[in-house]
Amino acid sequence: MKTKKIALITLGVTFLAGCATSQLQSGFPSAEEVVKSSWHNVPESMKGRLVQDEAQKICSAGRDNPSKETIARAEAIAKAAPVKLPKDGKMMGDWKKGEASAQSGFGQRVGDSSSRANGGNCYACHQMTKKELSYGTLGPSLLGYGKVRGNSEAIVKYTYEKIYNPHIYSGCSNMPRFGHNGILTPEQIADAVALLLDPKSPVNQ
Ligand code: HEC
Repeated sequence: MKTKKIALITLGVTFLAGCATSQLQSGFPSAEEVVKSSWHNVPESMKGRLVQDEAQKICSAGRDNPSKETIARAEAIAKAAPVKLPKDGKMMGDWKKGEASAQSGFGQRVGDSSSRANGGNCYACHQMTKKELSYGTLGPSLLGYGKVRGNSEAIVKYTYEKIYNPHIYSGCSNMPRFGHNGILTPEQIADAVALLLDPKSPVNQ
């Protein structure tokens, strides 16, 4: 029995080693080639998303540890880019719409229709309300965000700009640039601001 087990393990190791060797010999494709080849069925309009802009390029070059200079450069690039406001000029909208969008991961996926609004998918990375138990932890918890900070003009402006383009305040942030990249409209960003700052929002209960 013991001998059988050892024989099997040896066989397994030899097999794995064989795989590794043959793959090394044929040469691994680069990560870029793998991504490109998996995008052959993607509509033409989405292909631009494989091209990094300057901020993405410099941030990726530093892997998970960009230098202080890179972070400062990413912040300068973000500050120089326009931040569009909603048509009515108000940076705080409707928290109910903000909550629906925070829950939605719709949009920018292959097959998603462009006639339906994209979602912000905030819960994928943030805790936001006590009621929603399913959330990611890549970003900090935003539970009680407005309760702690109040909703002065400065906080409203910070929160709007933060969602519009997180790099303005944290160069090389892992949070998507929702406004800058047109994922959410200025109106939808104002709704997300309300979700975080409106005293009636479930975030602040
Ligand atoms: C892919 C993950 C991810 C998603 C999705 C995401 N965020 Fe973030 N968010 C982060 C990370 C990481 C940080 C911390 C780094 C930073 O401040 O940029 C952060 C920070 C923030 C902050 C700053 C918190 C503070 O204390 O100042 C706010 C506000 C925020 N996110 C709001 C949102 C909202 C609203 C949405 C949805 C529209 C959202 N985030 C979606 C990852 C994400």
